[in-house]
Amino acid sequence: MARLPILAGNWKMNCDHLEANYLVTSLGAALGDMNYDTAKAEAVVIPPFTDIRTVQTVIDADNLPIAYGAQDVSTQDNGAYTGDISTSMLTKLGCTYVVVGHSERREYHGESNELVGAKAKKILDAGMIPIMCCGEALEVRKEGTHVEFVLGQIDAMLAGLSAEEVAKSVIAYEPIWAIGTGETATAEDAQEVCGAIRARVGELFDAATAEAVRIQYGGSVKSSNVKEIMAQPDVDGALVGGASLKADEFAKIVTFYK
Ligand code: PGA
Repeated sequence: MARLPILAGNWKMNCDHLEANYLVTSLGAALGDMNYDTAKAEAVVIPPFTDIRTVQTVIDADNLPIAYGAQDVSTQDNGAYTGDISTSMLTKLGCTYVVVGHSERREYHGESNELVGAKAKKILDAGMIPIMCCGEALEVRKEGTHVEFVLGQIDAMLAGLSAEEVAKSVIAYEPIWAIGTGETATAEDAQEVCGAIRARVGELFDAATAEAVRIQYGGSVKSSNVKEIMAQPDVDGALVGGASLKADEFAKIVTFYK
């Protein structure tokens, strides 16, 4: 079965709930203007927690063809975890996806591969889909050990998941040196690592799981480079930061197939 491309806009810590209302409303209009076809690509927005209720309300009210999710979640169900958000809080808000292990969470909150794997399991148990991030820093890339490094992250993140769970999941390869820098990996760089990730999923699980798992590239994706990146055989989507904050630009990214 062909993998449906998934274009997800990671808003990071941008937009209060009023701005979120405007952005998701504008995105819905822009997708309509561009005759976005849900059979060709999946549009997803990943707003901050405080915007999710607003985004849900706009999407439901206008019946917009946009899925949404959160940028992180706790491994705990409830209780004395100040500042944390549980999976049930997210499912109640209609979230489909949760990003885990973004390089910014790893850097500023010390998240390990093991924690990311545990969060992914929690998300799957709650009936949502994890977008599990991986990717190497510039020093690793310069040493030429990036494939090995990323596969090490994959082994650790997927260790507690079943083949069925991995098949449903999304993996985002985001080289840290390409995030927010304007420096995009070449389409060949993206394919090299995304292809290696798929091959490793095949080794760890089986061929059907490797065929099913969707793998995104992320790092300075824009409407001007998305086509070339999406043309790579093992790239099934993009995780988009900066360019997802402009409705027209992100709608162009979602409709890359035109
Ligand atoms: P960017 O961010 O598109 O702004 O480079 C990508 C990401 O961090 O998900």
